[in-house]
Amino acid sequence: METIRQVHMMQGRCEELRRRGKRIAFVPTMGYLHEGHLSLLREGRRRGDVLALSIFVNPIQFGAGEDFANYPRNLQRDKELAVAVGTDLLFLPEKEALYPGGFATHVEVSGLTEDLCGRSRPGHFRGVTTVVCKLFNIIHPHVALFGCKDFQQLAVIRRMARDLDMDIQVLGMPIVREADGLAMSSRNVYLAPQERVQALALIDSLRLARRLTVAGETAAAVIIDAVQQRILREPAARIDYVRICHQDTLREMDSITADSVLLLAVYVGTTRLIDNHILGEEIDP
Ligand code: PAJ
Repeated sequence: METIRQVHMMQGRCEELRRRGKRIAFVPTMGYLHEGHLSLLREGRRRGDVLALSIFVNPIQFGAGEDFANYPRNLQRDKELAVAVGTDLLFLPEKEALYPGGFATHVEVSGLTEDLCGRSRPGHFRGVTTVVCKLFNIIHPHVALFGCKDFQQLAVIRRMARDLDMDIQVLGMPIVREADGLAMSSRNVYLAPQERVQALALIDSLRLARRLTVAGETAAAVIIDAVQQRILREPAARIDYVRICHQDTLREMDSITADSVLLLAVYVGTTRLIDNHILGEEIDP
């Protein structure tokens, strides 16, 4: 695996590979890799001749008072995992390399970003789209892989790539879960043991919603109410949002169709967790 820290070096290397007819698959991350990230890398390995990974804890997508300074990091372990899944190129830029003095340009997707996570994290998606656009410009991949765990992020990036004619296939990959159903996240390490147990309210409530839909319930309000009640049984849980939306437009839906996605954001203690489920699909594991 080749590690590159400089923008022009990464750009040159990727350009050369592309010229030689190599297909580049790219997985952007903030590191502290887990099985969710690795599933994207393994699929990228299958889809590209060259597998590129970026690790960059992007300061501009964190709000004031969020966890930028404490975001978990373990570069040595990340490198070992990246090698083990067959990563060819690791892009590891410093903050100053991506945001040099005088940096003043941002990419903003309107419509999809104001609500849900955008409401409780103002500026977050603008930070995400700006960095992903920059990474796309540096690496110019044929295919880029993202997790459905961050459902709104995936929708926003798809919109950006389409609207700005990026000519990059944006691929969404299934949510990888712990054995007990908690969606994997770098932030799960923040959970104290008692909170870790209570965090299962998220997957439990998604399963409950799935059971209700399979049994024929079509009223979004009924399902949302049941989900909220299940989550609030946990003393450490505080709901940010529970919503049922169309999976493409993220507009709220009153009744359930095959395109309905149930989206959750819940604080367990001080840790904000997100999860989701497309109600027409099975839940695994
Ligand atoms: P990060 O949280 O490190 O996630 C990197 C990628 O891994 C994202 O596409 C995310 O959806 C995916 N991922 C995380 N947990 C997953 C899980 N349990 N199952 C499947 N995929 C999972 O998302 C970001 O970083 C950043 O916002 C980024 C896109 C890199 C821009 O800074």
